[in-house]
Amino acid sequence: MPLREGGALTSVKPGPDVDTERSAGLDLLRQPVAIAAGAASALALVLFNIYAFILGDRAPWLLGGILIADMLVVATGIAVAVREVLRTREITQQAEETVARTRGELEASEARLARIVDSAMDAIITVDEGQNIVLFNRAAEQVFGCRREEAIGRPLGRFIPARFREAHRGHVEHFGRTGVTSRRMGDVTTLWGLSADGAREFPIEASISQTGEPGRRYYTVILRDITLRKQAQDTLARQQEELRTLSARVLEAREEEKTLIARELHDELGQLLTALKMDLAWLRERIPAGDPELASKFEQMGAMLDQTVGATRRISADLRPMMLDDLGLADAASWLVEEFARRAGLECRMESSVTLDLSSLDRAVANTVYRALQESLTNIARHAQAKRAWVVLGANDGELLLEIEDDGRGIAPEDLEKSRSLGLKGMRERVSYHGGSIDIARAPRGGTRVRLRVPLRFATAGEASS
Ligand SMILES: Nc1ncnc2c1ncn2[C@@H]1O[C@H](COP(=O)(O)OP(=O)(O)OP(=O)(O)O)[C@@H](O)[C@H]1O
Ligand SMILES: [Mg+2]
Repeated sequence: MPLREGGALTSVKPGPDVDTERSAGLDLLRQPVAIAAGAASALALVLFNIYAFILGDRAPWLLGGILIADMLVVATGIAVAVREVLRTREITQQAEETVARTRGELEASEARLARIVDSAMDAIITVDEGQNIVLFNRAAEQVFGCRREEAIGRPLGRFIPARFREAHRGHVEHFGRTGVTSRRMGDVTTLWGLSADGAREFPIEASISQTGEPGRRYYTVILRDITLRKQAQDTLARQQEELRTLSARVLEAREEEKTLIARELHDELGQLLTALKMDLAWLRERIPAGDPELASKFEQMGAMLDQTVGATRRISADLRPMMLDDLGLADAASWLVEEFARRAGLECRMESSVTLDLSSLDRAVANTVYRALQESLTNIARHAQAKRAWVVLGANDGELLLEIEDDGRGIAPEDLEKSRSLGLKGMRERVSYHGGSIDIARAPRGGTRVRLRVPLRFATAGEASS
């Protein structure tokens, strides 16, 4: 087997080309002209022999000549035969030397290959078609806690947890039939190995390759123990999940706080301002007539009180629209869109195809969708330079769909990565916490389109009344 080592390709060298020489001589003898000439000479000699024998004493010179010719032919035959025997012996000797040298090189090659396989960091196991182990390197010894001598000749299944054995055997056989040279194993699931004493199962990462032909196929599995990596991945996933829950909880707490402040503003401050307005009206009726300066001061105070009442309502509604609780998501969203169009001075319409009653929608889900709409509209006012915007609310297959589009400058992919911008990130976080998805991209019409889907969830009777 040719083996690359230190950049040089070492391979088995052919011996001297003795066979070529010999076969050239034989080829010459096989030429039709040579065969014909040889046969003709032999026939002529036989005929001369018969003729000399018939003539007998009458032609002694012919008899003598023929005898000499016969002896010459026999001597030549013996010489050729001796030469062939000597040459055959020489060729056999050279062939034996070549075989010995080739065997030596082959053994050296195999030893080098074994050293390379043994020095590999990953476990390497080769099995035959019956899935019995024929190669087991040092890393495999460490991974499975089993000496090579104890592994060779034993079934591979011994290193696979019992519940996966059959399936694994089937996968390897199927791989053999596909004829694919190599592939990764366990792309979709985690593979498990079993220590030789059967006490420890551990996750592994493996690839498989095959060599040989049907009936004499070998499968080589290269694998590594990924216990530490899997532990780190699991820890990371758990921490991410905890962070997601924490951030959702923080957002919820913020929402609850806002609701509280909104209620205080609406109930406490609103009532005090109303009382103040009534007192002002009472006072105004009692001031002496004919004092224009006092009358104008009362006018100003009344206007300022109206403004304060309006501002309080607006701030309270921004913090948490009572409508979301009172009327449900669809009407609250519609109010928000109208307010936005009026305040931002752009044309904005909302279409709702929701036929379901959303008034008992889970509060956290309703909040998430409402806040997403609020953030998207604020973004349009702040960044889009748009003239028109469209909002579509719909429900479909147990999901709530919200789409907000504008005809502004359009969002760039790098806008989504801005480290100081939190609006879209918070939106994404909340939506994914509720099992939904969000897509923010440049719209076909050129502006920006935000699309989100959140699974519909309704409040249970207990939650609704709380
Ligand atoms: N409708 C839009 N049209 C064009 N660009 C937009 C639009 N919406 C968002 N962007 C871009 O995406 C960026 C990120 O938006 P994001 O809402 O996350 O943050 P922000 O609005 O800048 O700040 P905040 O954290 O206060 O929301 C914006 O800075 C803006 O450049
Ligand atoms: Mg924003």
